[in-house]
Amino acid sequence: MAKKINVGTLISGGGTNLQAIIDACLNNSIDANILFTGSDNPGVKGLDRAKKANIDTFVVDYSQIIGSCKNKGIKETDLPEDFNLDEIQSKQQLVDTTASKEQAAFFLKTRAIAERKFLDIILAYDIDLFVLAGFMRVLTPYFIDKINTEPGKYKIMNIHPALLPSFPGTDGYGDTFSYGCKIGGCTVHFIDYGEDTGPIIGQKTFEIEDTDTLDDIKKKGLVKEWELYPQCIQKFADSLI
Ligand code: GAR
Repeated sequence: MAKKINVGTLISGGGTNLQAIIDACLNNSIDANILFTGSDNPGVKGLDRAKKANIDTFVVDYSQIIGSCKNKGIKETDLPEDFNLDEIQSKQQLVDTTASKEQAAFFLKTRAIAERKFLDIILAYDIDLFVLAGFMRVLTPYFIDKINTEPGKYKIMNIHPALLPSFPGTDGYGDTFSYGCKIGGCTVHFIDYGEDTGPIIGQKTFEIEDTDTLDDIKKKGLVKEWELYPQCIQKFADSLI
């Protein structure tokens, strides 16, 4: 059997993609082991799925962190020691260009505070590949640069519920439906400094009937996602990408 790669996962919700990857690992259809599942959201079903498979779990509660920063403000000592706003600002392509300087700084600082908490746990593991499986937070260059340490080598994968580069953002299937597309799809791609802009690893499509509801599209899409994600992880394990 080929050497197995170590995978770390991040989720925000129900974790059906996580389950598909857990199942693929357990039945040896991919050469991978999941070492941990982290969530930005406490109490989600995906964490139970991981625990059931004896995977380490942890939570960094983003809403709590952002809420507390809104109420109390951000002190210099709240920020990671090596946080450099100018550097992160110059690299990031996440913040809306219409946002004020203060809004952009608040966004990047609060995310870096949360990301540091993830990093303090994550970096203790020896991980080959980070897999975002329904993780609904963007990652800033503060986090990405601590994971992608080898030039030109991407180590963070994401699944997006649309055929990128169409419909990036938070509601891929919703946008596909509203636009009246006749073909929908899902995309696995690497994470770079933009929102859903990194190199594409794999895509799958499905037909949309005139009678399909948004719910039908989500159901069709998820079935494709559960096939696609394990395949893309295996591609990485085979060093084909
Ligand atoms: C999936 O449809 C995934 O593509 C999407 O969230 C859902 C998570 O479902 N991800 C994103 O929109 C990322 N921006 P799951 O928790 O059942 O795997």
